[in-house]
Amino acid sequence: LWNQIVLFYILKSLHVQTLTLMFKEKQKNISESKYDIKRDQVCSASSRCLLSYRLKKFYIEAAAASNITITDHPVTFDPEASWLQFHLGISRYALYSGEDGSIDRLLRDMQTATVISADFTQDEKALKGACDCSQVVKPSGLHLKLALKLQDFGKAMFKPMRQERHEETPENFFYFVDFQRHNAEIAAFHLDRVLDFRRVPPVTGRFINVTGEILDITHNEELRSVFFTSPANNTCFFAKCLYVCKSEYAVCGHPDLLEGSMSAYLPGLSIAPRISIPNPWIRAYSFTGREEWEVNPLYCDNVKKLYPYNSGNRLLNIIDMAIFDFLTGNMDRHHYEIFTKFGDDGFLLHVDNARGFGRHSHDEMSILAPLTQCCMIKRSTLFRLKLLAQSEYRLSDVMRESLSRDPLTPVLTEDHLQALDRRLGQVLRTVGKCVKKLGEPQVVITDFVESSRVTTSHR
Ligand SMILES: Nc1ncnc2c1ncn2[C@@H]1O[C@H](COP(=O)(O)OP(=O)(O)OP(=O)(O)O)[C@@H](O)[C@H]1O
Ligand SMILES: *[C@@H]1O[C@H](CO)[C@@H](O)[C@H](O)[C@H]1NC(C)=O
Ligand SMILES: *[C@@H]1O[C@H](CO)[C@@H](O)[C@H](O)[C@H]1NC(C)=O
Ligand SMILES: *[C@@H]1O[C@H](CO)[C@@H](O)[C@H](O)[C@H]1NC(C)=O
Ligand SMILES: *[C@@H]1O[C@H](CO)[C@@H](O)[C@H](O)[C@H]1NC(C)=O
Repeated sequence: LWNQIVLFYILKSLHVQTLTLMFKEKQKNISESKYDIKRDQVCSASSRCLLSYRLKKFYIEAAAASNITITDHPVTFDPEASWLQFHLGISRYALYSGEDGSIDRLLRDMQTATVISADFTQDEKALKGACDCSQVVKPSGLHLKLALKLQDFGKAMFKPMRQERHEETPENFFYFVDFQRHNAEIAAFHLDRVLDFRRVPPVTGRFINVTGEILDITHNEELRSVFFTSPANNTCFFAKCLYVCKSEYAVCGHPDLLEGSMSAYLPGLSIAPRISIPNPWIRAYSFTGREEWEVNPLYCDNVKKLYPYNSGNRLLNIIDMAIFDFLTGNMDRHHYEIFTKFGDDGFLLHVDNARGFGRHSHDEMSILAPLTQCCMIKRSTLFRLKLLAQSEYRLSDVMRESLSRDPLTPVLTEDHLQALDRRLGQVLRTVGKCVKKLGEPQVVITDFVESSRVTTSHR
């Protein structure tokens, strides 16, 4: 099934030389850039004038400071590379198998491998021009992630730290303007593995040198242009915004080290297409709106009649996802993704978990609506949850142990770990109520992957 992947990357490695030549050319063009004081513009030799005044000023300073020498690191293509093994191991049931040692290897590689280039992510580029973020600087930066390419051709999505671990999201924040948290991204991967779902791409924490591992190696002029040196002499760069404009906010190294999360890239869309499907329990992304599920307690009956929720495992998969999001407190699951190759019963990807773990003192029961309203759960999921509620395997203990292996440990504060136990109790109580009302055969559903899941123990 995945033979194409190998072929694709071999072809890609042949292109490296051509690319390097192109980058050299581009580098020349950058160094020929001119700052036109009269017109307040920076224009490259190829006459692309992009930047606002303030950013231009930073650009000039940053450019002078770094003297625009792009560091070129050698790249090697290794068919045994851990990220490639990860791609090849993806199945219809999960992103990796319970026994797969290459995942730990992948985590180590993402922690240590030399970063050879940095760029905005594809979806960030797609937003280009969607809003003008060049006006006000205020502390509500929303959206900042970079694609980092590693020495072995692996790719990771980097999300820098935006919020201290002990800070709680203010009560009055709407979920869609909340911060993205790098530690939530890391913790979500561990939680997903502990739950034996294996639907979150591997994530590790890492200190990134903003100067040496982003600014000096990026071939993207625009990314270079958002770098500047802060009054405290730290190297910083700006974010772009998604929903709310005029809110642009810098992140800074200390003086150039910045902690963040590294999430392993999934196989490219061209070789392993995915589709993004609106969550039937989507929230209204406005200040006043209400969705039908919020007002109609019988909403699930409607969903059950609709394709693809009317057969197979899809609805049970949605309920798994709701339980996962409830445990992390993530209210932002507006869409979910599946690989098209595996058809309707393939697993749901749980990517983008950075909006979880915002508030430990509050359990957002509405996230659990799919479970509460449908009163169904996979037998394998329930089995796992019950196990993690026992004192020998307490969820918070297993999580603490699992997270202690991350370079950024402690990834979660004790308060967040305790909240996991409390929320797990809420889930089990909800299932208990359903069983009482409808009887176990109605509520606890045997799913077809059970046999392969129950036997694998967590690590
Ligand atoms: N681990 C991940 N977490 C979140 N999003 C991811 C992850 N891996 C991939 N994506 C998203 O999938 C999208 C498409 O990936 P794809 O690899 O096709 O993009 P790409 O950068 O054009 O890659 P390439 O240039 O190597 O083909 C990207 O926008 C990226 O944001
Ligand atoms: C660099 O600029 C020259 C024109 O001065 C242009 O022909 C060339 O395509 C540019 N190269 C890149 C990579 O932009
Ligand atoms: C940039 O570096 C080169 C050599 O590394 C040096 O000759 C040149 O003067 C430097 N330019 C600036 C603007 O510092
Ligand atoms: C970060 O990278 C820069 C440029 O490569 C280097 O000068 C600096 O010493 C590095 N900082 C740390 C803490 O490694
Ligand atoms: C930052 O660096 C400049 C020049 O190197 C120096 O003059 C200034 O005092 C430094 N500022 C701080 C806050 O360290």
